[in-house]
Amino acid sequence: MIPARFATLAPTSVVVTAPATVIEGDAGEIASELVNAGRRARLAYLDPPFASHADYRLTAGAGMGRGEVAFTDRWDSLDAYVAAMAETFARVREFLTDDGSIIVHCDHHASPYLAVALDRIFGLGDRGPTSSAPGFRNELVWRYGLGGSSPRCYPKKHDTLLWYTRGRDWHFEAPRVPATSARMRGQTKKAPDVVDVPTLNNMARERVGYPTQKPLQLLDMLVRAHTEPGDLVADLFCGSGTAAVAAVRADRAAVAVDIGRDALVTTTARLAALGGGVEVLAKEPGATPADGPVDFAATGARRPDGTLALDAVWCARVDCGASMPTTRVAWYRTARGDEWVAA
Ligand SMILES: C[S@@+](CC[C@H](N)C(=O)[O-])C[C@H]1O[C@@H](n2cnc3c(N)ncnc32)[C@H](O)[C@@H]1O
Repeated sequence: MIPARFATLAPTSVVVTAPATVIEGDAGEIASELVNAGRRARLAYLDPPFASHADYRLTAGAGMGRGEVAFTDRWDSLDAYVAAMAETFARVREFLTDDGSIIVHCDHHASPYLAVALDRIFGLGDRGPTSSAPGFRNELVWRYGLGGSSPRCYPKKHDTLLWYTRGRDWHFEAPRVPATSARMRGQTKKAPDVVDVPTLNNMARERVGYPTQKPLQLLDMLVRAHTEPGDLVADLFCGSGTAAVAAVRADRAAVAVDIGRDALVTTTARLAALGGGVEVLAKEPGATPADGPVDFAATGARRPDGTLALDAVWCARVDCGASMPTTRVAWYRTARGDEWVAA
């Protein structure tokens, strides 16, 4: 069943035909839709809210609403959070190729609980007695420099990335990092399960203003390690779309999913800037500001199946000020490389 919000599009529109497709909707639901449409991902990267009891605000805005909440991470209980994530993981498992991988990005707030949920859905893998059994492969530690400190506990300076495989076979090309020993000076070695990648500082050129944006260096490493050119990479809680961008840059296809309009606009703009074409499946994919008030719109050539080859994205907002509503329209255009600009 195609969800009602896509009803104006032909059923085949869920089929990924461009290098990159951005889809508005719930991660698990869209994964199931893509299964129905006959698609499978070699790698699903999930960077969901971490159960951190916080709201996340846009930190910059090339036209977007700086300071506005991009997404909230508040749950009735930890149990409710884990149950929602487990349902998504089960749907994503069906969406993977037989040799596909899921990587779930999380931190101390819920990582043990998510690992148990994943063990139950995917299997114990390397935790169990049988080598190469489906399931758990690695707990990858992403160690970064920035972050908070506390006088009452050790500063929290890492995230956890849980890697599981659907089957007994999987693709893995070990990433390489500079060797540190004097004997191997100037050479590389296989990256261990603790990776050092700097977080994006406030001045980083790749920053696009979306909170919790992950570094391209980290996602580039994961995409190349777990997939081959031509594979489909799914960025299912895409935020600013870092995994999707890394995938397209590495000649993979990408599908990026989010429930938030700021995330959809940001991801679409970043992907459009790569120049390979983007499809957008959202509520009003064909509308333009000239059609009247819209809060998300994209234009480009419409394909026979109803999807768009994108060349511009609008994000309009209605600000209900004290006197009268004003509408700000930002026009994001394709630019060079990773850069994107607002007109
Ligand atoms: C931690 S951020 C992702 C950041 C991203 N990896 C990046 O590099 O920018 C989590 C994202 O999950 C989205 N989200 C929350 N619930 C969702 C759901 N049920 N389905 C899809 N996306 C969801 C939020 O809107 C938010 O953009």
